[in-house]
Amino acid sequence: MRSLDMRDLVDKLAQQRVLGREEFKALMGCDDDYLFARAREARQGAYGKQVFMRGLIEFTNYCKNNCYYCGLRVGNARAKRFRMGLAQILDCCQTGYRAGFRTFVLQGGEDPYFTDEILAPIVAEIRQTYPDCAITLSLGERSFASYQRLFGAGADRYLLRHETAHAAHYQRLHPRGMSLQNRKACLGHLKQIGYQVGCGFMVGSPGQTVSYLVDDLLFIHGLRPQMVGIGPFLPHSDTVFAQEPAGDLRLTLNLLAILRLMRPDLLIPATTALGTLHPNGRELGVLAGANVVMPNLTPGDMRQKYRLYDHKISDGEAAAECVENMDRRMKAIGYELTVSRGDPICIA
Ligand code: 5AD
Ligand code: SF4
Repeated sequence: MRSLDMRDLVDKLAQQRVLGREEFKALMGCDDDYLFARAREARQGAYGKQVFMRGLIEFTNYCKNNCYYCGLRVGNARAKRFRMGLAQILDCCQTGYRAGFRTFVLQGGEDPYFTDEILAPIVAEIRQTYPDCAITLSLGERSFASYQRLFGAGADRYLLRHETAHAAHYQRLHPRGMSLQNRKACLGHLKQIGYQVGCGFMVGSPGQTVSYLVDDLLFIHGLRPQMVGIGPFLPHSDTVFAQEPAGDLRLTLNLLAILRLMRPDLLIPATTALGTLHPNGRELGVLAGANVVMPNLTPGDMRQKYRLYDHKISDGEAAAECVENMDRRMKAIGYELTVSRGDPICIA
């Protein structure tokens, strides 16, 4: 496609917020940086130059699932497992709060140890100690009643990537017993309960086609989540997909920009996976329209063991150090880290 036509397509997306399947496909292959410029403009209109930070607490790497792509899968006997208790989780929050974080993201594998009886009091304790902070959970698939109980205990947001919106592709990435249908049902429940919801997918996961990526975009268009997390697939040496190639940088950035143009109000992280794929991946992500970064508050020894994929980057040991590093990185590209809960804005 000629560059002029490509620019027309970018403008059309900016105006109409959605495109036809073939148009989306063409835009994914865009090599004109005009796409990023328009995405920055859209983000600027909604959020200015602010980049929100979320403190990531990886509190358990036990998981009962066996997703083929992930290093935490139950079938990976080489993973060294850990889980934090209430005191350790609260410690992470305290260090994070002092360093300026106002959102805590509690992320873990699907660890059967963390029943509602154990988890709800942990959420309630964080809620009580930090009434000015947002609590985000990222714990995979749970029952409606469980999501409801955790919401009641004080959680505000929930991240649950749909991974792929194409059912057969979902089956290629997950063993029997996991289904896209169930994933979608969980996302529906979370929305219904009142969580701010984040879905998302990996770019370049094995078997993915451009057509499946269009399915992802259209699914997101229909779901209207508040957040979307996307990052490149990265191989992990102890998984079924150890020999598969990593996702493509440009394609990931194009998808970030496309999402921004579809939804100027969306909260979109420049993910750790993107920073792992390229030394300036997160800066490039922000310059393509992302507006969230998620520095890690997990203590170093445990952080090392939370290995979804090989070579995962780390921004520094201490929370304050992470913030300083990230602040420097963002300032260098003309953006600024913001201390606030960073709730989604409402625009028509
Ligand atoms: N490469 C990239 N992302 C991965 N995730 C899990 N394994 C990998 C991998 N090998 C992502 C999944 C999951 C999130 C927590 O991490 O999308 O939802
Ligand atoms: Fe478990 Fe999540 Fe990894 Fe799947 S992606 S194995 S559910 S931690």
